[in-house]
Amino acid sequence: MSRATARAHANIALAKYWGKLDEGQNLPAVPSLSLTLDALVTTTTVEFDGGLAADELSLDGRAAKEKEKKRVVALLDQVRAEARLTARARVTSTNSFPTAAGLASSASGFAALALAATRAAGLDWSRDAVSALSRAASVSAARSLYGGFVVLPAGGKSAEPLAPGSHFPLAMIVALTRAGEKSVGSTEGMIRTAKTSPYYAGWVEHAPRLFERIKRAVLGRDLGVLGPAMESSALAMHASMFAADPPIVYFSPTTLAVMERVRELRGSGIPAYFTMDAGPHVKVVTLPEHAEEVAIRLAECNGVLEVIRCRAGGDASVADAPAGES
Ligand code: DP6
Repeated sequence: MSRATARAHANIALAKYWGKLDEGQNLPAVPSLSLTLDALVTTTTVEFDGGLAADELSLDGRAAKEKEKKRVVALLDQVRAEARLTARARVTSTNSFPTAAGLASSASGFAALALAATRAAGLDWSRDAVSALSRAASVSAARSLYGGFVVLPAGGKSAEPLAPGSHFPLAMIVALTRAGEKSVGSTEGMIRTAKTSPYYAGWVEHAPRLFERIKRAVLGRDLGVLGPAMESSALAMHASMFAADPPIVYFSPTTLAVMERVRELRGSGIPAYFTMDAGPHVKVVTLPEHAEEVAIRLAECNGVLEVIRCRAGGDASVADAPAGES
């Protein structure tokens, strides 16, 4: 019996990934750039056990639904094939944050799973190879293997670290606007957008330009350039979804209220910029010295349930003894 535990942080894209180049291999159609966050952590233990009849998955203390297990079993099958193992696995995963809509739990979840599963199976893979394994399960997960600012090129099999968080210290405040599951998952949402939205082609054409601007702004530590480009990336992505058939609208009235609050903060001289993912929550980037005021002002918005204060997080890591030593 071999067992390993890994921890990975969630990441939020400043330049968004939305759309697949190749559905089978799960390769991204556009380049993305993310910031890994310290406060949002998934811890996953994988234990291969010859006595199990099937893979078992527990998420935050409850048995996972069959639908949730599918991608996990596919990843474990790949690991078993590489390690020539037949044993099924017991997987236990817990998040340090509410597993609410669009909060990137799949990114940290699959990154932690890929790292724990390869270690438990005795595979001594490079971080790059583990990033590729997690990307096959969920594209954004590839970026959670690394801390700080991370890039995933268009068509890329694995993510690449761009700069540590200390290169450009930023704070990100996550404003939770609704509890519960999202209505349309990101995989389904982006496939529908690609198939039916007349604006999808425009998004794929424009996204690399925003990515380049965002990358230069991160390297040049320029929030005045990064902020507007990051908001454009999120809004252009959501615009492509609005035009899908049926339309995909993740915004809630509170999402719009928080965006308005961010504009007000800017009006009062505080540099703050928003981004949103496949859910109604809003993530706001600011400089560390303004983080507390931004967090308080966002928490005051009608409909905001909770704010989570984040800074840059580190690399995904193995938390206990490697296979065979436990
Ligand atoms: C809006 O990585 O969840 O968060 O590859 O189909 O699993 P799959 O999609 P996923 O999509 C994330 C989309 C996003 C933007 C981003 O994180 O870049």
